[in-house]
Amino acid sequence: MKMNRLILPVLFAVLYQVHTLPLHTEEDEYLFKSWMSQYNNKYEINEYYQRLQTFLENKKKIERHNAGNHKFSMGLNQFSDMTFTEFKKSYLLTEPQNCSATRGNHVSSNGPYPDMIDWRTKGHYVTDVKNQGACGSCWTFSTTGCLESVTAIATGKLLQLAEQQLVDCAGAFDNHGCNGGLPSHAFEYIMYNKGLMTEQDYPYKQGECRFKPELAAAFVKDVVNITKYDEMGMVDAVARLNPVSLAYEVTSDFMHYRDGIYTSTKCHNTTDMVNHAVLAVGYAEQNGTPYWIVKNSWGTNWGINGYFYIERGKNMCGLAACSSYPLPLV
Ligand SMILES: *[C@@H]1O[C@H](CO)[C@@H](O)[C@H](O)[C@H]1NC(C)=O
Ligand SMILES: *[C@@H]1O[C@H](CO)[C@@H](O)[C@H](O)[C@H]1NC(C)=O
Ligand SMILES: *[C@@H]1O[C@H](CO)[C@@H](O)[C@H](O)[C@H]1NC(C)=O
Repeated sequence: MKMNRLILPVLFAVLYQVHTLPLHTEEDEYLFKSWMSQYNNKYEINEYYQRLQTFLENKKKIERHNAGNHKFSMGLNQFSDMTFTEFKKSYLLTEPQNCSATRGNHVSSNGPYPDMIDWRTKGHYVTDVKNQGACGSCWTFSTTGCLESVTAIATGKLLQLAEQQLVDCAGAFDNHGCNGGLPSHAFEYIMYNKGLMTEQDYPYKQGECRFKPELAAAFVKDVVNITKYDEMGMVDAVARLNPVSLAYEVTSDFMHYRDGIYTSTKCHNTTDMVNHAVLAVGYAEQNGTPYWIVKNSWGTNWGINGYFYIERGKNMCGLAACSSYPLPLV
């Protein structure tokens, strides 16, 4: 009996390995195990070998990329045991969004604009990077991030606003909870709903809509869309006014981003292809490459302490397809 209990799993593991060539080395497995403990991951034996395989494929992809000549580097992170198909299902917007401000209502000045802006260092205007978890709720984080900033710029008070209220309550404005939505539609919800509560009063946990008007903490007077593909309009808004929400297309290499200026020849650049929403908090230029400084919602372990840089001026991955910001009601 005792022998069986010991031998069967070992035999199973050996057979499994034989089936899933190429074999991995002890070093590979050691690396995978330390990655598992770093991210607190545990698997059943079956899943273990499957995840190890995916992990090693990702690791190879990362090493190949980093050996090449690119403006950004890749690294292992919390997504390293997932295929892009799995990642997409859990973290990205899976349906095309109706994002099409053919003519936005943002009015640009004629500049000139400073070479660099970073709202994180201008004052207390940007909250810490948050973590959306396995839910396609990026649009709610882009929305709260932007409203937190415009409200702080107007009032001097930096609040933490409630993503979950948007996940639970903003469905009437073409938003779909964990299945996606758009910041501009969420700003409209907040405007018509007369307010958004704080994260403290409405924590990030699944549930029914629990909005309490008397606890509303931030308000929207109007929604401003930047005309689609008008990236200079975004520069104008970020330089003169505040951070702006933007959406773009995430493709498979982006999940492994570590640092540098992200560029891609694989992603699309049109409104119908955007699948992730984030917050541009500034811009700058490095060795002749202009870029955006962007706040993501995948926790602080991902990218540059939760942020990433993406090339500016080329509508990279459709980042200028549907950007917007709210006017705060204070
Ligand atoms: C886009 O708009 C159409 C028509 O209003 C609606 O049926 C559809 O659900 C919307 N799609 C999304 C992803 O919101
Ligand atoms: C802003 O753009 C969204 C689509 O992203 C659209 O539904 C909305 O009507 C626009 N709002 C204004 C004020 O133009
Ligand atoms: C999208 O990319 C193509 C190919 O690089 C380019 O010709 C086109 O102008 C771009 N469209 C937009 C809206 O940025």
